[in-house]
Amino acid sequence: MKKIAIYSRKGGTTKTTSTFNIAGILSKSYKKKVLVVDTDSQANLTERFLKHDIEEKEGADWLKNEITLEDLFLNPEKVNEGIHNSLIQLREGLPAKKRGIDIIPIKPSEINPAPTLEDIEESIGKAIPNGQVMKMLENIRRTRSHPYDYDYVIFDFSPSYNKVTREVLTAADYIMVPCTLDVNSLDGVSQIIDAINEIKANQNPDLKLIGFFLAMNNKTTAYDMQMEQMIREALGDKCMDTVIRYNTEAKWSLHNGVPLTWYKRNGKLTQDYEELVAEMLRKMDGE
Ligand SMILES: Nc1ncnc2c1ncn2[C@@H]1O[C@H](COP(=O)(O)OP(=O)(O)O)[C@@H](O)[C@H]1O
Ligand SMILES: [Mg+2]
Repeated sequence: MKKIAIYSRKGGTTKTTSTFNIAGILSKSYKKKVLVVDTDSQANLTERFLKHDIEEKEGADWLKNEITLEDLFLNPEKVNEGIHNSLIQLREGLPAKKRGIDIIPIKPSEINPAPTLEDIEESIGKAIPNGQVMKMLENIRRTRSHPYDYDYVIFDFSPSYNKVTREVLTAADYIMVPCTLDVNSLDGVSQIIDAINEIKANQNPDLKLIGFFLAMNNKTTAYDMQMEQMIREALGDKCMDTVIRYNTEAKWSLHNGVPLTWYKRNGKLTQDYEELVAEMLRKMDGE
């Protein structure tokens, strides 16, 4: 079970979109069993992968009564109860089916009285111990009705650096950082490298940086081309070769709750993500 964090400290860098599509490709093209974990209380990933259930149950309110990530911070041994199958409906009129992707959802902040770990700690009046994410994953058990034999666990993040982020980065084996082409991303590079180094020095010496990848690139603009060059220079060999282009299919596929690999099998953006996953797997193998 390889654990991959798709992390950046900035919003709108394609963390959620990338988690969504990398999970799809690992399942469809590589026939791997994937578990995704939504750690952002905006719950975008939850709402996309559980779109079918949310529509059937007319909203996300039912998640109030489900075991979600927040509950697992308190009771990591209940992890099996917090795992949901994502049911994906490829097209209108077709049945929604399991496609090899499961999710540990999070309660969307609008239905959650204590959306952050700090809120939870305040409500229970004590600190949540460290290492809970690791415990959660170690507690995943095979059962008769479900093998729970994940090849990959992928974490999606909120754009911050807080207790949840540190917990997850402590449990992760790999980290990959999406980076959009703008001055804030360029400025944020050193902050992220510092955060990774801090985690490596204090909690998780084995955390491996797969690399930064450039996302939502619009090669027709001089700005993006220049920015790509500047970010590549700043990152050196930490920058992956694959570039994810700007393409509205990213939005349509999220909108429909169908990862690109099924939504547009041969689309250009889908191919970018195929390339990214291939490069990611090569880097994970240490090439
Ligand atoms: N390659 C892309 N081309 C165009 N739009 C994209 C692309 N990737 C993501 N988007 C859109 O950009 C927005 C931010 O992406 P998102 O994945 O939510 O970022 P984050 O999770 O880092 O905040 C979303 O509206 C998403 O649909
Ligand atoms: Mg997101």
